[in-house]
Amino acid sequence: MSVKEEIKKIKSLSKDQFELLYQISKRLNSLHYEEGLIEETLDLIINVVDAERGLFAKYNEAKKEFEIIAARNLMKESIQDLTSFSSGILQKVVESKKPCLYHDVQSDPTISQFDSVQIHKIKSVLGVPIIKNGEVWGVILVDSQLNRKEFTEENLVFLDFFSNLVSLALDKIIDYQNLEKENLLLRNQLQNIQPIREIIGESNAIKKLFQLIHKVAVTDATVLILGESGTGKELVARSIHNLSHRKDKPYIAQFCGSIPDTLLESELFGYRKGAFTGATSDKKGLFEVANGGTFFLDEIADISPALQAKLLRVLQNKEIIRLGDTKPIKVDVRIIAATNKDLKQLVSENKFREDLFYRLNVFPIEIPPLRERREDIPLLVKHFIKKYSSKEITIAPDAMKKLQNFYWPGNVRQLENVIQRALILCDSNILLPEHIVIDEEESLLDFRGTLEDFEKLLLLKRLKEYNGNRTQTAKSLGVSVRWVQMKLKEINSSEFDSNE
Ligand SMILES: Nc1ncnc2c1ncn2[C@@H]1O[C@H](COP(=O)(O)OP(=O)(O)OP(=O)(O)O)[C@@H](O)[C@H]1O
Ligand SMILES: [Mg+2]
Repeated sequence: MSVKEEIKKIKSLSKDQFELLYQISKRLNSLHYEEGLIEETLDLIINVVDAERGLFAKYNEAKKEFEIIAARNLMKESIQDLTSFSSGILQKVVESKKPCLYHDVQSDPTISQFDSVQIHKIKSVLGVPIIKNGEVWGVILVDSQLNRKEFTEENLVFLDFFSNLVSLALDKIIDYQNLEKENLLLRNQLQNIQPIREIIGESNAIKKLFQLIHKVAVTDATVLILGESGTGKELVARSIHNLSHRKDKPYIAQFCGSIPDTLLESELFGYRKGAFTGATSDKKGLFEVANGGTFFLDEIADISPALQAKLLRVLQNKEIIRLGDTKPIKVDVRIIAATNKDLKQLVSENKFREDLFYRLNVFPIEIPPLRERREDIPLLVKHFIKKYSSKEITIAPDAMKKLQNFYWPGNVRQLENVIQRALILCDSNILLPEHIVIDEEESLLDFRGTLEDFEKLLLLKRLKEYNGNRTQTAKSLGVSVRWVQMKLKEINSSEFDSNE
């Protein structure tokens, strides 16, 4: 286009349009992009050209698709659905790389075949390409269901100017969009590792646990919590309930290990009067009491085959039958189960129903043992000191080291007990190594770890028995003194370093 033509074009713009272009250029050029800038700009344009809707769409050349950046109607509402705009007209703008103006598109045979034009009774359309490096980057489009005489050449010129301004500011817009996406992503990530107040820990293992809890809590999925004794399975179950939409409904926990079968059954399912001697009246079971809420079945591996079958019905049909009754009762409970046993192993030994296992194993959450997240120990120690003492009590570094080096077969519960005991033993305001009394006998009995860890535990115990004498310790274990020294180096236990 010649300069002369360009000037003629500029001259055809009204004062209002000039004013608006000036405002827009200033805003597009400002240092900071405010949220909603594109939307607001579209609103202005809809107003000036007297359209009903406006669209600012990015064109993906490879996919031959458009993506909405902003779309607005007269009510300044955002439009999410691109298909309500005429894809045919968008395509025409892309192909011609030129501004397009259509009046009375309903009777234009080259356009009216496009569905959205028909459905939305669009009469007038103005479309302008946004060109970047000679390619169509996107399209600005305004349309109206009325036969707008305002959709004039003059307005086309205006839109063209606007599109040039946008092209110039495009890099900024893209940066802004990327930033926004990144922001959203970060916000999302942040949300997922939001800590859970009752669960103490900052290790990666615990952060992953937080993520899983947040994700599953908002669903109704059955959760199977796995982990050694004392790792916090019950704590996790309760957190899931508290973070769920059932939080204001009952949370009921039932320990299923070592309880006589009939007792457990009548607890869970209730009974009818006369179901057995002593059943003098009808009684609701806990599943009914928990209706609308969450049911935590603790130590699920221990339930009898008969109860396993009944539990399967709760999970499958969401109904229970009271003892001595035949009528099923619908219950709406979310099930969380926990075990420290290897359920899969029990299934292969025919001790646990496979179908029940799969029903329970919908969303397994494994809590790692404390020894695999030792970095959480200082935090937990401080937490338990606060929990059990109202005084300002600190812990000596060598006492903390002792706690961090220990193997913790009883996990967090054992640590909690040890701290509680230490606080009783301590009559100053600093916990010392001598206050940390770990009952290793108990630890060995409760042992669930690897052979290597057992080795360490046994070595430490023996060393203590022989007052740290490595020669006697080695002899009693049937190993060389060198072996003992090497192991101790591995354990890095300060406790026995200088006793010989
Ligand atoms: N991450 C943690 N932060 C704070 N307290 C914890 C944490 N993990 C466990 N505890 C505490 O340790 C104790 C044992 O936890 P919990 O009863 O949930 O363990 P469990 O896995 O159910 O054990 P078991 O298999 O023996 O039933 C509880 O007092 C609990 O509050
Ligand atoms: Mg428990």
